[in-house]
Order: sequence, then C-alpha cells, then structure tokens
Amino acid sequence: MLDPRVFWQLSYGIYIVTTRAAGRCNGQIANTVFQVIAQPPTVGISLNRENLTHELVRQSGVFAVSVVSEAADMPFIGTFGFKCGRTTDKFAKIQTVVGELGMPIVTTNATGYLEAKVTHTLDVGTHTLFIGEVVAAAALPCAEQPMTYAFYHDVRKGKTPKNATTFLGTMGAAAGGGKYRCRVCGYEYDAALGDPAHAVPAGTAWADIPAGWVCPTCGVGKSEFSEVR
Ligand SMILES: Cc1cc2nc3c(=O)[nH]c(=O)nc-3n(C[C@H](O)[C@H](O)[C@H](O)COP(=O)(O)O)c2cc1C
Repeated sequence: MLDPRVFWQLSYGIYIVTTRAAGRCNGQIANTVFQVIAQPPTVGISLNRENLTHELVRQSGVFAVSVVSEAADMPFIGTFGFKCGRTTDKFAKIQTVVGELGMPIVTTNATGYLEAKVTHTLDVGTHTLFIGEVVAAAALPCAEQPMTYAFYHDVRKGKTPKNATTFLGTMGAAAGGGKYRCRVCGYEYDAALGDPAHAVPAGTAWADIPAGWVCPTCGVGKSEFSEVR
C-alpha cells in the first residue's frame, strides 16, 4: 500500500535555484531545498535531469537559492516553475543581483538568498541531488514571509509539474464550476474576468478566445484546458 496523502504531509518551501555556465544564465522553481549540515554550512537541491538548470549546475558546479516570498504571484512562479529557459527568457521582467560566484540571483519576491559550490552529486534516477557548501548568504529587506509549499497550494492554488520532485499525478485535482482549468499548471480561466493583460476582455466566452491565446502562467495552448464542472 502506498497512500499519497502521506507525501502531502511533508513540508517544504518555495525557492528559485539559479546558476550560470559558459555565459548562459538560468533558473527554476524548486521546493526540494534543504540544509544538510551546519559546519561547513551545506545545502542540498534535487533537480530534474531534463531541466536546463540541471544542465548548467552540472557544468558550473555552483548554484544560488532565492527564498521566494508570499508576495510572489502565479505568473511569476509560472515563469520559473512551468517554463524552460531553453525557450523562455526568465530574467526579462525581474530584478537580479550578481553574487560572489558570478551567478544572477533573483531578488524580486525574495526574502533572502544563498550561494553554494557543489561538493557532492548523487544520481537518484529522474533527478540529481546536488549538495553544496554555502559560501555567501544575505537576507533581503522584505515585508512578506517566506512562501511555504502549503501556502503555494492552499492560497495560490498552484499545481506541481511533472518535473518536480513531488509530482504525484493528477490525484489532487479539485472540481469547480463554469470555468476552464489548465491541466499543466492549474491556472483557471474565468469568462467573467477574461484575461485583459493578454487582450481577452472580461466577459469573453471560452469559445471566443483566439486560438493563439496561451495560458498566462505556463504558456500551453487552449487544448490543454478542461472545463471545470
Ligand atoms: C511548486 C513547484 C515546485 C517544483 N520543485 C521542483 C524541484 O524540487 N526540482 C525540480 O527539478 N523541479 C521542480 N519544479 C519544476 C521546475 O521548476 C520546472 O520543470 C522548470 O520549468 C524547469 O526549468 P528549466 O528547464 O528552465 O530549468 C517545481 C515546479 C513548481 C511549480
């Protein structure tokens, strides 16, 4: 027996892991970030082998972790958590600083960050566990609390993509009424609200949204949406 509800009882935060290799920068959302030992201060991250961030951390041997605050909205999380840096410039609309190890570090919607040098790697199948010694850390002036994984699900109504460490299929999908929900990221299109930021006025029926419209959070097309019943 393997009851998925027990996995949902595990606690995490929401983080952005960034790195830079051969002049290329990238970053992704990760919930699996944890302190391993205190001396020397050491953290671990688990990255999917398919992710560009994985490729670049493997090359560079360094990574930074920004602690995401509760101020982060779904478009922000969607950019780093549902889109790949191979096709998206994730740094276009956000603030970064360059850290001591030369990586871009996300400071938008962040309460603090740390930088680490990889000391160990462990192949765990779909993911690689990178263990890194922390060489720099800074708290940022931020009025908001660090976002927990529970807050992401309960308040932001966020979903977990297949490349995440904690993906458990679609068992957590909730039912609703009269709306269309993205099967990839959980974004809900509500005809009463439309999507004015992307030229879809309030009151636009689902059928009348132009075919080229994409999910504002994760970028997939209309075919990836299901009606919420
Ligand atoms: C809430 C959330 C948690 C996630 N946690 C992880 C994680 O711990 N490890 C991981 O490899 N991917 C995780 N992901 C998925 C990556 O962020 C996602 O695959 C991203 O698009 C990879 O981008 P890249 O290819 O540009 O590196 C998570 C996504 C979300 C939304």
